[in-house]
Amino acid sequence: MAQIFPEWVNKVPGRIALSGGILVIFVIAGIWYYGSPEYTDVGYQPVQPVPYSHKLHAGDLGIDCRYCHTGVEVSAVAMVPPTQTCMNCHTLIKTDSPKLAPVRESWEKGTPVRWVRIHKVPDYAYFDHSAHLRVGVGCESCHGNIAAMEEVELAKPLSMGWCLDCHRNPDAHLRPLDEVTAMGWTPPANQAERAAAIKAQFNIKPPVTCSGCHR
Ligand code: HEC
Ligand code: HEC
Ligand code: HEC
Ligand code: HEC
Ligand code: HEC
Repeated sequence: MAQIFPEWVNKVPGRIALSGGILVIFVIAGIWYYGSPEYTDVGYQPVQPVPYSHKLHAGDLGIDCRYCHTGVEVSAVAMVPPTQTCMNCHTLIKTDSPKLAPVRESWEKGTPVRWVRIHKVPDYAYFDHSAHLRVGVGCESCHGNIAAMEEVELAKPLSMGWCLDCHRNPDAHLRPLDEVTAMGWTPPANQAERAAAIKAQFNIKPPVTCSGCHR
């Protein structure tokens, strides 16, 4: 039979498929790179409207995290405190500090201070603070030693792999409930036994199936 097309034409569909495959990889890489928001990068530390220091307030003054982050044990979100919380003290302390000018302005005008959000998981992933606090996972496991930070920075990647690492083996992160906000906590020598007891007590089963976090 006469050949209508030269031999090399047979390879064309393969080439198209191959370059198509490369294109798909580039598109995915592009979305990954450009679509990935800044705040998922460890070390992300935006400039805040007020030079508020966790090291001073939570570290040196020893104010408990829950005094300001009131939602953390009872709801999905920890919540950044309203101006009222600052003014509980700052109507009396450092009342004419220029550093506190935006806080006083917020107080007088009734407009919130525009804190810049640092930690955020995408809307398609479900996260709940209270579920973690209830079983003794401390703030420090996920946020690092906040009480040592002058300005908060992102200490962990908040990626899916990071969530799953702990969900598969949370033992090192299960603290006594009265230690959840403590900073610098290290697991004691008998942590394996204690973790086993805490897991049994609360029937802990961190989700590792897709629908656990993608609801
Ligand atoms: C006196 C009030 C106060 C106390 C006490 C306090 N915080 Fe905060 N926290 C704030 C304010 C205000 C912000 C927002 C500004 C900033 O990021 O620094 C914040 C921000 C944060 C953020 C970042 C939120 C984001 O945007 O992602 C984390 C995490 C955090 N705090 C954890 C803690 C932990 C852990 C403790 C206890 C060791 C603590 N905080 C104690 C007031 C407080
Ligand atoms: C429990 C009391 C208390 C609360 C609540 C509190 N502060 Fe303070 N704050 C202090 C004290 C005490 C100082 C240190 C004063 C000193 O250096 O003598 C301080 C200092 C500061 C300073 C430094 C002022 C300067 O001129 O050096 C800033 C800024 C500040 N606080 C912001 C805030 C903000 C914002 C909030 C609310 C999220 C807040 N504080 C809540 C007690 C508090
Ligand atoms: C198991 C990990 C984990 C623990 C434990 C944890 N956090 Fe978070 N935190 C996160 C993640 C993830 C986000 C982002 C949540 C989102 O985008 O919905 C976040 C966000 C925040 C925020 C800003 C947004 C919000 O929810 O209001 C604050 C403030 C905060 N955490 C404070 C705390 C404090 C205080 C503690 C301890 C009392 C704590 N966190 C314990 C993982 C954790
Ligand atoms: C340091 C350990 C640790 C990290 C990090 C962690 N978790 Fe968890 N998570 C747990 C433990 C322990 C439980 C089990 C609670 C239980 O079974 O009562 C849990 C439970 C959950 C639950 C089930 C809550 C419910 O109401 O059923 C969800 C959803 C969840 N985690 C989402 C996440 C996501 C999303 C991340 C990452 C952004 C994350 N977790 C990071 C330890 C962790
Ligand atoms: C413990 C919670 C958790 C479980 C379980 C989980 N995911 Fe995720 N997943 C996340 C979080 C958090 C993100 C967002 C990560 C980020 O922003 O980098 C995510 C992101 C993703 C993405 C977006 C792609 C990317 O890398 O940004 C896909 C797709 C995905 N998950 C699929 C799955 C599938 C399929 C499963 C089941 C095999 C699964 N997830 C199980 C928490 C979880």
